[in-house]
Amino acid sequence: MDVKARLGFVGLGTMGGDLLEQARGNPKIEVAALCDIEPVALDKAARSCVNKPAQYNNHRVMLAKEKLDGVVVAVPQHLHAAISIDALDAGVNTFCEKPMGLSVAQCEAMLAAAQRNGKALMIGQVLRYIGVYRYVLELTRSGELGKPFAVRIIRTMGLWGSWGRPWRLKRETCGGMLLEINAHEIDFMRCILGEAASVSATGNRFNNLENDYEDLIFAQIVFANGGMGSLTAAACDYMGRYTGEVFCEKGTIYYDSVAKTLHVQRDGTEKEVVAYDDVHPEWENGVYREIREFAETCMGEHPATIPGEEGLRNVEIAEACYQSIREGRPVSLPLK
Ligand SMILES: NC(=O)c1ccc[n+]([C@@H]2O[C@H](COP(=O)([O-])OP(=O)(O)OC[C@H]3O[C@@H](n4cnc5c(N)ncnc54)[C@H](O)[C@@H]3O)[C@@H](O)[C@H]2O)c1
Repeated sequence: MDVKARLGFVGLGTMGGDLLEQARGNPKIEVAALCDIEPVALDKAARSCVNKPAQYNNHRVMLAKEKLDGVVVAVPQHLHAAISIDALDAGVNTFCEKPMGLSVAQCEAMLAAAQRNGKALMIGQVLRYIGVYRYVLELTRSGELGKPFAVRIIRTMGLWGSWGRPWRLKRETCGGMLLEINAHEIDFMRCILGEAASVSATGNRFNNLENDYEDLIFAQIVFANGGMGSLTAAACDYMGRYTGEVFCEKGTIYYDSVAKTLHVQRDGTEKEVVAYDDVHPEWENGVYREIREFAETCMGEHPATIPGEEGLRNVEIAEACYQSIREGRPVSLPLK
């Protein structure tokens, strides 16, 4: 018998639409229900599905009426905690987009809900699964370049105008740059260097008067293994760049996601330069992989591959950086 995971989708904007598209292409997933408060988004999503999933404008009604194996939450992040907790309390495994929440307290409440209901909670830290980033993580873990000891990432853009979504203009709905954008880079650094021991950050709002949060942040992270991380985040950089470097004992990796080239310099050899398109083009799409793994978790095949505990650690680093900016001093982790 063909057994499929019955999934419901809450939030069908840009990311929810992407997750839905990848779910539709997965033979082990039944798109059972869709939910969005915006009729246009709901209708567009429904029309993209041939199997006519049930439609809702209230996630609680959806949870009460449908017998779901899993719920995919892709609403703005100030709603992640409340909707995920409702889903978990309804006894449904939950996939929640990044950032997991806007505070450690919210993430802890989500984890508690998963625990008391015995359900899985997975966080959409998809960068780990995307082409060149996945390659960098696998190369680093292979040991071929020796132990990694530092990661430096610069991810900046010009005045972004919130990509047409007003919720991205406010700290209280998006969590500022470190949560809205750099939850990815923080997670990537943790994947390489492990857990953070302390952070020191400076930040301010200089140019981007549309937003009510810092548009330039310099964050330094010290990891428990002695490794060092450096993150530059900006929404006031007319140049706009996205580069990363991983320093290892026997080599250095450099990637440029604007030029779309990956550079690997091994000790004593010629530098290799690879175009992004040539980095394992056969690998599955990152969003397809995360939704596939979530469906497998819903079917009891394995625990959540990116569990809530990891999402919490990312949020904690961001929260500690904001505290450091406010207080003008380094902040130790874990936060009390
Ligand atoms: N993993 C990634 O790379 C990535 C990329 C983009 C966005 N995201 C994350 O995905 C989430 C959504 O971002 P987006 O860009 O799709 O935003 P969006 O504004 O395009 O879509 C959000 C959708 O949620 C709906 N919504 C709002 N409140 C709702 C509610 N109570 N019930 C049901 N639907 C509701 C909105 O109507 C909208 O259609 C955010 O948490 C964002 O950080 C992740």
